[in-house]
Amino acid sequence: MDKLVIKGGKKLQGEVNISSAKNSVLPILVATILNGNNCTIENAPMLEDVFVICEVLKSLKANVSIDKINNKVKINTANLFDNDANDELVRKMRASFLIMGPMLGRFGNFKISLPGGCNIGTRPIDLHLKGLSALGAEISVGHGYVEAKAKKLRGSNIYLDYPSVGATENIMMAATLADGETVIGNAAEEPEIVDLARFLRAMGAQISGEGTDTIRILGVKDFKEVVYKPIYDRIEAGTFMITAAITKSLIKINGADGVHLKPIIAKLTEMGVAIEINENSIIVDGRKKLNPVDIKTMPYPGFPTDMQAQMMSLLCTVKGTSIITETIFENRFMQAVELKRMGANIKIDGRSAVIEGVDTFTGSEVTATDLRAGAALILAGLTAEGATTISDIYHIDRGYVSIEQKLKGLGADIERVSS
Ligand code: EPZ
Repeated sequence: MDKLVIKGGKKLQGEVNISSAKNSVLPILVATILNGNNCTIENAPMLEDVFVICEVLKSLKANVSIDKINNKVKINTANLFDNDANDELVRKMRASFLIMGPMLGRFGNFKISLPGGCNIGTRPIDLHLKGLSALGAEISVGHGYVEAKAKKLRGSNIYLDYPSVGATENIMMAATLADGETVIGNAAEEPEIVDLARFLRAMGAQISGEGTDTIRILGVKDFKEVVYKPIYDRIEAGTFMITAAITKSLIKINGADGVHLKPIIAKLTEMGVAIEINENSIIVDGRKKLNPVDIKTMPYPGFPTDMQAQMMSLLCTVKGTSIITETIFENRFMQAVELKRMGANIKIDGRSAVIEGVDTFTGSEVTATDLRAGAALILAGLTAEGATTISDIYHIDRGYVSIEQKLKGLGADIERVSS
């Protein structure tokens, strides 16, 4: 298994290019199930999760080709048929559950393994199923599977108990082939929802309201060929913004979108980080002394839960007391245990973490427990005294394209070693 070895304390400089958003590309690849024509996704991030969702589509007999040189994924689902998706793959990555809506919409019947939970929480799917049954599907759950049946989905008014990103995506995709209009109330407003809606519209869907809490979808009969370029990854961009802050460096981040990054920009500015927002890039200057702040994760446009672990690493190095409240997932402080091995002073109390800043991290052997916790350990390693070795970095490879190459390009002393 590969490991990352980081020698901390280096000042960084230069520019980094952000890849396309993992959490856009995954639902967009799934949405090709609806469309029996050629779909081309350009500038696709060559990530483990993208390869897994392509394998899931192949298990449904989709024609998938991944061009790793030109970062393109071409999919044709004309020959798709409703056999069961590969259970092992579905359990491996919960985003695979997003195929339920499109498969139900296209075939009127689909059975899939219940998605596993993951380290950060149980990750229920009740809101997905409630939405699909509101569209007329008959849902049955048993023996580790969920099956949905509907001769023809019919548009409906759905009000989500919680603005779930995945439930909004599943319902939105299914509704594009339903009879009549569907209104999703209390919908998720994340930029990745907007990107999926734009992709669906590009292939002929009739959707409006994406990016607000009310999305309207008018069912259509069929779709057309589409070529699409997803948005940049705001969480990768935010991770590199914190890279600049934690190493007290000045870095230019190309592809960063100042609108999508508003909650992160607001918090880092509050801490004293100097941020310059340009058309397609952001310059982050973390060279000044920083102040502690409190963070509360919320659905977009609040502070993103996917940036919580990275922020924890930064706050561990800022003198004073900071409090992080994680309101989205019930077990998303696992990075704290590893950060404490590196000398952090963190007290966890349920959904809150109280952080007392320390002078510096000390390099240690640590383990990535999930994608963003792994990113947090890299950030801590970049500023730690001595060497930090991070194992189980397959978690990190799920969501960051060549992260050690990008950091090396900024002057970091980081190596990927095979053990
Ligand atoms: C998406 O997960 C992202 N994943 C997550 O990113 C992200 O953390 C999350 O949205 C929140 O922004 C992808 O887009 C592939 P949710 P998702 O449904 O859709 C509860 C990363 O690091 N809930 O908005 O699963 C759920 O338990 C990953 O890139 C229900 O109760 O998130 C959680 O507490 C991690 N019932 C909350 O809602 C449901 O039916 C948010 O979940 C669905 C969700």
